[in-house]
Amino acid sequence: MFEVLNTEQGARRGVLTTPHGKIQTPIFMPVGTQATVKSLTPAQIEETGAQIILSNTYHLNIRPTSKLIEKFGGLHGFMRWNKPILTDSGGFQAFSLSKLRKITEEGITFKSHLDGAKLFLSPESCMQIQKELNSDIRMVLDECIPYPCEKRDCLKSVERTIRWAKRCKKIHDSFADGNLTFGIVQGGIYDDIRKMCAEELSQMDFPGYAIGGVSVGEPEEEMLKQVDASTKYLPENKPRYVMGVGTPVQLLKMIALGADMFDCVMPTRLARHANAFTVNGVINLKNSRFKEDHSPIDETVQSYASNFTRAYIRHLVVSNEMLACTLLSIHNISFFLDLMRQAREHLEIGDFAEWSNFWISRYNSGEK
Ligand code: GUN
Repeated sequence: MFEVLNTEQGARRGVLTTPHGKIQTPIFMPVGTQATVKSLTPAQIEETGAQIILSNTYHLNIRPTSKLIEKFGGLHGFMRWNKPILTDSGGFQAFSLSKLRKITEEGITFKSHLDGAKLFLSPESCMQIQKELNSDIRMVLDECIPYPCEKRDCLKSVERTIRWAKRCKKIHDSFADGNLTFGIVQGGIYDDIRKMCAEELSQMDFPGYAIGGVSVGEPEEEMLKQVDASTKYLPENKPRYVMGVGTPVQLLKMIALGADMFDCVMPTRLARHANAFTVNGVINLKNSRFKEDHSPIDETVQSYASNFTRAYIRHLVVSNEMLACTLLSIHNISFFLDLMRQAREHLEIGDFAEWSNFWISRYNSGEK
């Protein structure tokens, strides 16, 4: 299901086969938590070059519910997106909605962030919901550990996450519907716990593995160390997905550590605040210096948004027009996907490390 095509030191280029098509890795997955990548139609998402998008079990099961989505042919039929979809399990909401949940051996009880209604996610129900959504790639139920966390508490939580993974694998295997379920490595900032978790999950023989519990407030150096402490102990012939990260520079650094897949709200969230990615860093289109700027957002990245000048997009931003958000989202997602395309190209040629160093120093040197 996953074929590694080229390697350069720890970094790899590969291809992952899913029921709705093949995914070339390394890849970035735009986030569509509510069965929509905010402000974009599926046709617009496709035009950015997206190969796969991400959605969320917790949110969709609260509203409109997986049972309803199933009646419309699963997520693909409901939102009219025909390419692969990955659904996260709800384990992250155990962290982000920590005041609204209770964790026991059986699973996670949430109080809906919308109306306070009770929602219980067990490893089994979480897999059942993802089956009803019919996502191509499904995630096991896990607990995303906060930072900082005492080692004793971290170990207890990871041991439970491992037991939950076993329960998820069992029910996934019983579905036998050809879709993929990934295990999730947790372990906070503790290398030895990450190693133990990665090894235990590897024995369960998942078709892919995620690295969770990163970018939860720890310094960047620590985050990269934990990605390294996880990828090192995962099988080479399976895809590795780092959850919820990151900046363009972080993506390149994590590819060098052997990561293949990423998702992050950054391109769309920053777009909603008038920020645009360029090869020289992030610019804010509200700025008056773009008032008469005839150039596109970034000369080097082609997308539908390249048809428009910075001056026009700035006008949309300051006039509070919705199109600003759409054009900036198209640009930012295209920027991330183009970065992944270039990474794959340089992994194929064999000069990834050299190109990546050049790319990072240009990006960090700032906008000209
Ligand atoms: N998204 C970002 N981090 C995590 C994590 O640790 N677990 C899950 N399930 N989703 C995430």
